[in-house]
Amino acid sequence: MILAQENGRVIGKPDKLFGVSSLAKERIAEKGREQVINSTIGVLLDDDGKLVVLDSVMKAIRGLAPDDFAAYAPIAGLPAYLEAVKKAVFMDEQPKESYVEACYAPGGTGAIRNAISAYTKPGDRILTSDWHWSPYEVVAAEIGRSVGCYSLFDEEMKFNGSAFGEKLDEILKEQNETLVIINTPAHNPTGYTLTDSDWDSVLTSIKAHPGKKIALLADIAYIDFAGDARKYRSFLKKLEGLPQNIMPLVAFSASKGYTMYGMRCGALLCMAPTAEAAKEFKDVMTVESRASWSNGNRAAMTVIAKIFEDEKLLKKVEEERNAWMKVLAGRGEAFVEAAEKVGLTIFPYDSGFFITVPCGTVKRAEAVGKALQEMDVFVIPLGSGIRVSAASNTMDECRRLPGLIAAAMEKCDKSGGDYTL
Ligand SMILES: Cc1ncc(COP(=O)(O)O)c(C=O)c1O
Repeated sequence: MILAQENGRVIGKPDKLFGVSSLAKERIAEKGREQVINSTIGVLLDDDGKLVVLDSVMKAIRGLAPDDFAAYAPIAGLPAYLEAVKKAVFMDEQPKESYVEACYAPGGTGAIRNAISAYTKPGDRILTSDWHWSPYEVVAAEIGRSVGCYSLFDEEMKFNGSAFGEKLDEILKEQNETLVIINTPAHNPTGYTLTDSDWDSVLTSIKAHPGKKIALLADIAYIDFAGDARKYRSFLKKLEGLPQNIMPLVAFSASKGYTMYGMRCGALLCMAPTAEAAKEFKDVMTVESRASWSNGNRAAMTVIAKIFEDEKLLKKVEEERNAWMKVLAGRGEAFVEAAEKVGLTIFPYDSGFFITVPCGTVKRAEAVGKALQEMDVFVIPLGSGIRVSAASNTMDECRRLPGLIAAAMEKCDKSGGDYTL
């Protein structure tokens, strides 16, 4: 007897990512780490395959008092944490034309969940790009919403501003409110970063709907690994002083930038157009949080607060992280250069953990993934593309991967289109 209620969701679907990653582990156990390229892992690893953990952050965690772990935190988050998060997001350029508030969430995931739940209605469609982090869909479905997609790139591999506008128009013909998720900089899974003119086009499309309520959520999960901190935050200025029907939101995550993946620490921030909308944000977030996870992780919040209260410590965290960011950028560059050399088309990668290689169709992407497995290379097929993780491969592996992918594609195409290898 089936007891769990499906409620329109798909439950029990095998996790593709987990499946490929288990196969990679089995192959490594069989042949040894040197013989296998495992590009399935979504976290930053050092060249020995170990999780990168910032020492400065770990020291701060070890310095916590028992109460920092044991006591409850206020539902919206510790006040010192909320101040720290504003600094983490805006640095010393706090918005002047918007009302900023923040609320704790367990990671960026929690922030995204609360944003969707508070600013859309059950049955609504939210909007994001066709290439996106798949939990957006799971989170939306869990609370009775669905995801509509525009194609992220046009034929020239540029941001497809008109596709964005058209999809937004379509959705807003059917409903009075929606939420738009833009994952930038260092988008997962392509590594794309929206340019200033991409943002202008997004905002023009959104402003074309003065009679609708639109929440615009910037998912900045990878911002601290994108590059120059100020440059990569400059887009936030464009979200200031927007019309009153638009609510700019930012999903902050300490998972990557502070290597606190497992501590579940993040926040949702608003850049509200009015004081009233900011107060409402605070009130609604308190209810959303109370009803989903209640109080947050006090220890994690205290660590972030301590980092931002101590200039020296903050500097150490930044220096350590920047050293790793250089390693990551080197891996990305190695992949991009090698792809150019072998003539492998990739989506426009700017920075971040992932690179995506378009394969044209889902069938071809699956076949290329399988052909790579025969060559002891494990990547994640994602729709009609394959995702490579520069974050978890060495520079040498990143240099070799494009040639291997091109060879796998050739092998698949020789099958005459049925991809039976
Ligand atoms: C695009 C994107 N957004 C948000 C997150 C949220 O991560 P977390 O909930 O661990 O902060 C991730 C994590 O992989 C991500 O890739």
